[in-house]
Amino acid sequence: MDMTNCSAVFFAIALVFITTVITMVSRRARRMRVDPACNRLPPPPAVTGTSSIVLLHTLLKKGFRAMIHEQYTKLGSVFTISFFGQKTTFLIGPEVSAHFYQGLESEISHGKTLEMTVPMFGKEVIFGVDIATRMEQNRFCLDALKPSRLRCHVGPMFQEVEEYFEKWEQQGTIDLKQELEQLLTLISARCLLGKEVREKMFDEVFSAFRQLSDNSLHLTSFFFPYAPFPSSWRRDKAHAKLKNIFAEIEDVLQSLIDSKYKDGRPTTEAEVTGLIMVILFAGKHTSSASSTWTGARLLSHPQCLEAAIKEQQEILKKYKGEIDYNTLLDMSVLHRCIKEALRMHPPAPTFFRKVHKNFTVRTREGHEFEIPRGHTILSPLVINNNIPYIYKDPGVYDPDRFGPGREEDKVGGKFSYTAFGGGRHACPGEAYAYMQVKVIWSHLLRNFELQLVSPFPETDWLKIALEPKERVMVRYKRHPPCGLYTEN
Ligand SMILES: *[C@@H]1O[C@H](CO)[C@@H](O)[C@H](O)[C@H]1NC(C)=O
Repeated sequence: MDMTNCSAVFFAIALVFITTVITMVSRRARRMRVDPACNRLPPPPAVTGTSSIVLLHTLLKKGFRAMIHEQYTKLGSVFTISFFGQKTTFLIGPEVSAHFYQGLESEISHGKTLEMTVPMFGKEVIFGVDIATRMEQNRFCLDALKPSRLRCHVGPMFQEVEEYFEKWEQQGTIDLKQELEQLLTLISARCLLGKEVREKMFDEVFSAFRQLSDNSLHLTSFFFPYAPFPSSWRRDKAHAKLKNIFAEIEDVLQSLIDSKYKDGRPTTEAEVTGLIMVILFAGKHTSSASSTWTGARLLSHPQCLEAAIKEQQEILKKYKGEIDYNTLLDMSVLHRCIKEALRMHPPAPTFFRKVHKNFTVRTREGHEFEIPRGHTILSPLVINNNIPYIYKDPGVYDPDRFGPGREEDKVGGKFSYTAFGGGRHACPGEAYAYMQVKVIWSHLLRNFELQLVSPFPETDWLKIALEPKERVMVRYKRHPPCGLYTEN
């Protein structure tokens, strides 16, 4: 049995489990609501016994987004479901999301919700350590990705991109998903791990890295990170191998190695290797899905594609063919095309936190609820970034919604757009991600005529990162050597 089948089976078992628990919980919730004696705020509405069967059906048939959307339509922006006996409350829309993103660590935290990352990256980093240490490690990563350092990455990124596409024929058909994944692996190796790794140990590092990713990203690893599946063994082996390789390299991410905690303690070898895996994982995996979705969307919307190409021509004129960090910042049309692709295809379906202290939320309609400690709370990006009163026709790919005069995400208020999270735990790699996706698409738009020849890809809901499920076949044809840029 291969991993896909394996996950499907466990997924099904998990669902049966969920349904049973939901039925039990909703019975109890109904009893609780008829308590007239106290004047505390009510708990959020809960899914009832019969609808939980519908819920299961929708999840299996249509995926996570459709399931949550159905409950949102029925119950409103705050409601509770239960997973494995854990009460899980969904918070939908910016009105009820502030505490989720900004709450103090003592009141609301990641808790054990991301336990799956511990065997992936090691117990010395991120979710394996206490919050104070984690915040400091986060700072090390931020330092490694700050603008002054990003500037230096643009040149090597373009070099990797040019070398890669140089190898394409004059014309042909490729799987965009596979191509961009390979390219981003090369870029990550070069920019995040340094020249030495990129040149000498590329194959070794990335076959182990692929093992680590492939065996960590199924829903089963999310629910059962330590279960004795073959995938867990493969993951642990890959982790050990990467750890050995990274430990032997001297100049890998020197800034991480040189980082010091506030008390002066230097980072240990296990911490540095763990953090490298985190950055590499975050930097490569999410961006390869995002750049593929951006491409699939652009190539399905001729007007957007045309606008993006036109911008490239103008940029080349304006900067006389020189592309650097500032040039990339000036590509606002392309920026919006990526941002809109991320709105519709975020890197993860939802964020998680654990509640340590009761808190209240007030919905847009003015209903107030108390969310008790012990609940897991979810901020589902796949719904939050598609709310019709914030985003006009949310199902339509419309990059101009972020343009001057509309700026729907700003008008919608803080936490209307959460593809990179927000508040306390906002993604430190946002600028880096935009940069590398822009470098790739800027090059493709300037040098090739592209056409999507397979149907628009569906989302793989069985993966934690929302990748395109099928291959994304694209026919390309190289422009004449002078390209679009003609000095006149
Ligand atoms: C938190 O909420 C729970 C459930 O509604 C309630 O039983 C408990 O008393 C609350 N705790 C505080 C400190 O208000």
